[in-house]
Amino acid sequence: MSFVEEIEPLKEGALTELKAASDLAALEQVRVRFLGSHGKFTALMKQLGSLPKEEKPVAGRLVNQVKVELEAALADRKSELELKASLPKEPTDFTLPGRRRPLGKTHPLTQVTEDIVRIFRRIGFVVADGPEIENEWYCFDALNTPADHPARDTQDTFYLNAGQASSLPRSAPQSSQLQPAGKMPPRLLRTHTSSVQIRVMEKQQPPVRIIAPGRVYRRDNADATHNPTFQQIEGLYVDRGVTVGDLKGTVEHVFKELLGDEVKLRFRPHYFSYTEPSYEIDFSSSLTRRMGKDWLELAGCGMVHPQVFENVGYDPEIWSGWAFGFGIERIAMIRYGINDIRLFYENDVRFLRQF
Ligand code: DAH
Repeated sequence: MSFVEEIEPLKEGALTELKAASDLAALEQVRVRFLGSHGKFTALMKQLGSLPKEEKPVAGRLVNQVKVELEAALADRKSELELKASLPKEPTDFTLPGRRRPLGKTHPLTQVTEDIVRIFRRIGFVVADGPEIENEWYCFDALNTPADHPARDTQDTFYLNAGQASSLPRSAPQSSQLQPAGKMPPRLLRTHTSSVQIRVMEKQQPPVRIIAPGRVYRRDNADATHNPTFQQIEGLYVDRGVTVGDLKGTVEHVFKELLGDEVKLRFRPHYFSYTEPSYEIDFSSSLTRRMGKDWLELAGCGMVHPQVFENVGYDPEIWSGWAFGFGIERIAMIRYGINDIRLFYENDVRFLRQF
């Protein structure tokens, strides 16, 4: 048999054995047998050199072609066998139920906040935001809260180290007698979201229709109804000819949407330095009776004090408005029948999963 005639049967033999190799080890043996340094095909190639000169080009080309072909077939079979090795050994039971991934949920406080925001959006309010690290101007002075107010006491409020330079932009009006020009007001963690009222009014001309949800801080020891940090929603509406009737109507609409149609509200005269007149809102429903109470205090509110308008450069002869603020935890506790505020912050999934 001539050299060239030997090539074809050798190739066929190699291909047959490649296909027959049932695992990677068997395949490696086939490779060594044909293409290894002592392999049959390698031996054939070594004979090339001893061929007569005129046969060499044709034989050389043929041998190389077959070598490339065999190497490709080897690589194909190898990846087939690798895939086979990576598959499960046991047969798959396609009738088994799938594995469910545990789904997360929004926190009950987030649910309540989102519901309230949605209700206000429907009646034309937009969400406003302000920093949790505030200064006394936004938290107190601009809200007409005098220097001797108990909320400003270091026992009640978290003040920040006075030695640290403030990075807060101070956009408060320079002309205000409440705030000496050029002096940086002390920084603190905001005690209420009412500071956002000022931030919004300083930047924007009336009409204003905003709500501002956010975290607030007070030096309270944690107990069933207090926590050093909690969340509030602030509301502010400024336009021409706004009345207490608008305030009552709006608040009633929102709480009926949120807690049900049978909700009754009661406005009780109160005092806040940034509103005049001021009220506390109590509410009554089957939910309060479930907690053993006829009325539960829900929110503070009132008509924006003319001095507050002056402080932000609004003319109180032209503009009037109302504002309110309430604690979100309070609402969530009533809505879901929760009796301890600390549960919201313990992050125990057994608690959180229930809502
Ligand atoms: N800032 C008050 C608080 O933290 C709540 C409040 C009362 C907000 C009256 C208002 C308001 O906007 O007009 O208790």
